[in-house]
Amino acid sequence: MCLAIVSAMAEENASLVRQMSDVEKIEAGRRIYHRGRLWGRDVVVVFSHWGKVAAASTVTLLITRFEATEIIFTGVAGAVDRSLNIGDIVVGTELYQHDMDVRPLIERHEIPLLAMTAMPSYVPRRALLASAAQHYLDLHLVEQLSAEVIGEFSLQAPKVVQGGIASGDQFISSEQCVEDIRGRLPGVVCVEMEGGAVAQVCTEFDIPFSVIRTISDSANDQAAMDFPKFIVEVAQMYSLGIMNVLLMDLPPLPNAD
Ligand code: ADE
Repeated sequence: MCLAIVSAMAEENASLVRQMSDVEKIEAGRRIYHRGRLWGRDVVVVFSHWGKVAAASTVTLLITRFEATEIIFTGVAGAVDRSLNIGDIVVGTELYQHDMDVRPLIERHEIPLLAMTAMPSYVPRRALLASAAQHYLDLHLVEQLSAEVIGEFSLQAPKVVQGGIASGDQFISSEQCVEDIRGRLPGVVCVEMEGGAVAQVCTEFDIPFSVIRTISDSANDQAAMDFPKFIVEVAQMYSLGIMNVLLMDLPPLPNAD
């Protein structure tokens, strides 16, 4: 019974694994699950790979084989809310699958098995994640990132917001797609490719989950620009720093630690 930290990015996963002790590596389904201790907690850490199916199969195994009792999913996202800037952090409140469409049988976006459109994340964890993220931005960002990187990605005043996250098997890179998603799912502030699948599996198994994302792009025609550099220089530092603050502050989990 333990906390699972799942990353959508190999670099984020690698930086977490480097901090672990007593690590056992378990290979399954073309992924490597790292079970061990991280800042005093029993954890399983894994890179999900990209897309809804990859995320769903990773989380299913975490729950059924590794007996994960809570899932935290980290990664990057494209901004849908135009007040979000690169380097801002989103803590997901409700997760959606923007590409789920079983019309005319049921309403667009509704998940057939669950009869739900918006899948809420674990409420008690939202504020803790948001304050861990704020703490990281206030105290550690300047320490950890060079002035050059802060300048290059304009990370002078990043913020933390809570809001809806929509997932689909598509890297969004056009303003028209963003407007379309915004129109269909008004509570959504960013898009990515896994959170909605994590939410579905966790809801099916009654496992609490959280999704935290760093905005890496504006989901428009500039989206691919500097994406790899942002992941290496910024996103992996953010998620390592935020998980560090969170795990140090988190009260013991029920049935874990
Ligand atoms: N993850 C990061 N940026 C994204 C985008 N623009 N679309 C989908 N997933 C993303």
